[in-house]
Amino acid sequence: MARFHPLPVAAVDRLTDDSVALTFTVPPELREEFRHAPGQHLALRRRTDGTEIRRTYSICSPAPAPDGDGPSALRVGVRLVEGGAFSTYALKEVNIGDEIEVMTPAGRFTLDPAPGLFAAVVGGSGITPVLSIVSTLLAREPRARFCLIRGDRTAASTMFLEEVADLKDRYPERLQLVTVLSREEQQAGLPSGRLDRERLAELLPALLPVDQVAGWFLCGPFGLVEGAEKALRGLGVEKSRIHQEIFHVDSAVPAEAASAPADSTVTARLDGRGGTWPVRDGESLLDTVLRNRPDAPYACKGGVCGTCRAFLVSGEVRMDRNFALEAEETEAGYVLACQSHAVTEKVELDFDR
Ligand code: FES
Repeated sequence: MARFHPLPVAAVDRLTDDSVALTFTVPPELREEFRHAPGQHLALRRRTDGTEIRRTYSICSPAPAPDGDGPSALRVGVRLVEGGAFSTYALKEVNIGDEIEVMTPAGRFTLDPAPGLFAAVVGGSGITPVLSIVSTLLAREPRARFCLIRGDRTAASTMFLEEVADLKDRYPERLQLVTVLSREEQQAGLPSGRLDRERLAELLPALLPVDQVAGWFLCGPFGLVEGAEKALRGLGVEKSRIHQEIFHVDSAVPAEAASAPADSTVTARLDGRGGTWPVRDGESLLDTVLRNRPDAPYACKGGVCGTCRAFLVSGEVRMDRNFALEAEETEAGYVLACQSHAVTEKVELDFDR
């Protein structure tokens, strides 16, 4: 069960003009709860003047070994979003020693270290979870190799430039690094331009044996992830080998209007306790549950982070959009509560499964 804990900020490192890395200290008694897999994220919460903001940020630090202690520190990357309430606070106000409420790790954009070749296509801040994935994999599995293809505007706007260069120095044989800058001339021989579908369809087979890659990790803005997935599918890569995490969704992505049947109710089980409540017209099932159980887990409310994942025990729902659950999860019966609307009069969700 996801829980918030106040964690002290141990470091604020400026990465670029518009991004920072925040490091939190995890006290010994919470290390097990904050144990994470490479690629997971943390929801951060800020409550001021009666309003609450939650945002999810990916962990960039390596994951702890399964047989060792949980992490003593956690580092996340935060990029400034135009008008973004939390990112503005993180970049301009947070100081060492401040406490921030941090939710225990979540997310299924993860890699279980194994021998073989893995690859990632990332754009902008999409490097953040992949940095944790690459560093954990290469440290833990000597027979693993990784090809990292990253796109950004300029070298100066590229997050974790040094950290990635350090990894390349440490594992020159096992890490292949390709950086594509869209607004900067590069040295001869290096690709430039945008990482769109056409470009990737050309570039990927030239860089690595596409059919031998055990897992692909795509992370960044919606357009990049969608283009990379289409390029890979076009190159014959099975869907099950492609993992995706979307950081920003264009507002152009449609969400259908919602209308629940009259008198519909949702029954939800959460942290071992259940309840049944009437659904108000137009609201998501998460909002129905939250009115009665403020401890229900969520972060983005936009279908992106997956924190509100619940098992649909009975009834039928319609999801507006889903950028977080993999096909196997929806087939197994999981839904995003923040995007779900009741189709049947009775719907039963289990947040504990
Ligand atoms: S709260 Fe993020 S997907 Fe529902």
